[in-house]
Amino acid sequence: MDLLNVKDITVTYGRNPRPTIEHFSLDMKEGEIVSIVGESGSGKTTVIRAILGLLPGGGKVDQGDILFQGQSLLNLKKEQWRELRGSQISMIFQDSGAMINPIRRIGDQFVEYIRTHQKMSRKEAWNKGVEMLEKMRLPSGDTIMRNYPFQLSGGMRQRVGIAMSMTFQPKLLLADEPTSALDVTTQAQIVRQFMELRESYGTAMIVVTHNIGVAAYMADKLIVMQYGKVVDAGTRDEVMNNPASEYTKNLLAAVPEMGGKRYV
Ligand SMILES: Nc1ncnc2c1ncn2[C@@H]1O[C@H](COP(=O)(O)OP(=O)(O)OP(=O)(O)O)[C@@H](O)[C@H]1O
Ligand SMILES: [Mg+2]
Repeated sequence: MDLLNVKDITVTYGRNPRPTIEHFSLDMKEGEIVSIVGESGSGKTTVIRAILGLLPGGGKVDQGDILFQGQSLLNLKKEQWRELRGSQISMIFQDSGAMINPIRRIGDQFVEYIRTHQKMSRKEAWNKGVEMLEKMRLPSGDTIMRNYPFQLSGGMRQRVGIAMSMTFQPKLLLADEPTSALDVTTQAQIVRQFMELRESYGTAMIVVTHNIGVAAYMADKLIVMQYGKVVDAGTRDEVMNNPASEYTKNLLAAVPEMGGKRYV
């Protein structure tokens, strides 16, 4: 059975009669990495929010279906979502901005996050947090737990976000521009970390990015979107070697090359 099937969905926001997403489909197996690429406003965030059942602004999936392990996610009850989110499907936001509150210590937030999902004493949750931070190669998890977010670099904050989202070893991780706020070196480290997570835990991932270089490096499958529609989709090699749309051709042409080989 596939892990995720998005079946020809249409997404519409509020009273806007024109759908924002049309005919979006995606099939994913366990442990697969899919990258969604496309310009600003093409609908990337809308797609992953639709999968997580968190569309803002009266957004809804009004055609098609989304199946997670064969079960439809449309019309799940609040309690069912609470069980699924965080433990089976989790999400990482850009710069972890929406996840980490700037005026509370990392540890307080991490402990609270863990305890909303699992019955644990504060002490146990603290230790679990430290363990997860150290797995993400953050030095001295204990110190980081006592820090405020502003005391950490952007890359460290992003690692904290990844550590939190991986706490319950979700089967599917949705990452919205997880590296765009970072410098190139840190970006490369975080990308490698995602690859290691897939290796160690078999986590499937949907990674949204502006950067087709990052996408091509990480992804088994690539989806290119423009104006709410899929203009290219397939395995990484299919899309890179034989793009169907002019838009994808132009994106690929803009990737810097080194010595005749694409440098991604
Ligand atoms: N909360 C909302 N209410 C109404 N319409 C929205 C809302 N969020 C997004 N949209 C519409 O959906 C379109 C796609 O937005 P979305 O955020 O999915 O694009 P994106 O590809 O993630 O862009 P970016 O690269 O800038 O993050 C927008 O152009 C906008 O018209
Ligand atoms: Mg977006």
